[in-house]
Amino acid sequence: MSYPSKHLLAIEGLEPPHIADLLDLAESYALLNRSGKTQRDLLKGRTLINLFFEDSTRTRTSFELAGKRLGADVINMSVSTSSVNKGETLLDTASTLNAMQCDLLVIRHAQSGAPALLSQKVDAAVINAGDGTHEHPTQALLDALTIRRHKGRLEGLIVAICGDIAHSRVARSNIHLLGTMGARVRIVGPPTLIPADAARLGVEVFTDMKAGLKDADVVMMLRLQRERMSGGLVPSAREFFRFYGLDAEKLALAKPDSIVMHPGPMNRGVEIDSAIADHPTRSVIGEQVEMGVACRMAVLDILARRLPRNR
Ligand code: NCD
Repeated sequence: MSYPSKHLLAIEGLEPPHIADLLDLAESYALLNRSGKTQRDLLKGRTLINLFFEDSTRTRTSFELAGKRLGADVINMSVSTSSVNKGETLLDTASTLNAMQCDLLVIRHAQSGAPALLSQKVDAAVINAGDGTHEHPTQALLDALTIRRHKGRLEGLIVAICGDIAHSRVARSNIHLLGTMGARVRIVGPPTLIPADAARLGVEVFTDMKAGLKDADVVMMLRLQRERMSGGLVPSAREFFRFYGLDAEKLALAKPDSIVMHPGPMNRGVEIDSAIADHPTRSVIGEQVEMGVACRMAVLDILARRLPRNR
């Protein structure tokens, strides 16, 4: 297994064999999960702490499930009940976690770069579960696995990532992963939601959604992240839906066998029409959640292999 690091902080910097190995291992966990079998000794005696400074449903629960399926002791630290609310700094929290001899630390934080900072201060392997607008590497892995299961490959596919790109760490990690694996990535959204560094990211930029969706193999919708917007970057939800919401009419421009994705949580009727989100053949949103557990099992497995045996 070629994975190069003690931590998983970002997709940027990983090379095709690292990503392919992670996806292959995740695929084997997906099959194991479907067969109902378990692998409960792999992380036996290991402690996994989920440290979430931002809200989460899917990501936190799926790390918890992944850790438990591999036999780890899993602790969820909710920030609303932790000493962070008493003014403790991130680094003080880190030394507390160190003293507890945590092996795997999953962190989500509103500040871009917080997991990288923490990784320099703790002995544990650190996994970024989303930092600000920077990256969300396990989301990109689960998205890639879902795409690969449907299309058999990533290389050469046209993937349109649509909506609030500027505030999306999901978009950023996907752009790096899909680009590295040879997909043709388009970003589609209103000019106010296209990141300033789009040219550097090696993507094609579309502000007309119909042009951006033309012949796409994969249509990935993103949530309008109002909590990260400082001003009125979008006129109104109704108007946004008219121009950038995915409905049957716009989806008809993509390939007839294209798949529709969304990382969740969805704003139905804002970025995606309910009938498309629940479409029995085109929507793979439920499968993304399933693949999330498999990918997180693969990441925990790979990182645990590099941990010292007796800490
Ligand atoms: C995403 C996140 O938190 O970045 N959600 C997720 O992890 N499934 C996207 C979002 O919040 O819109």
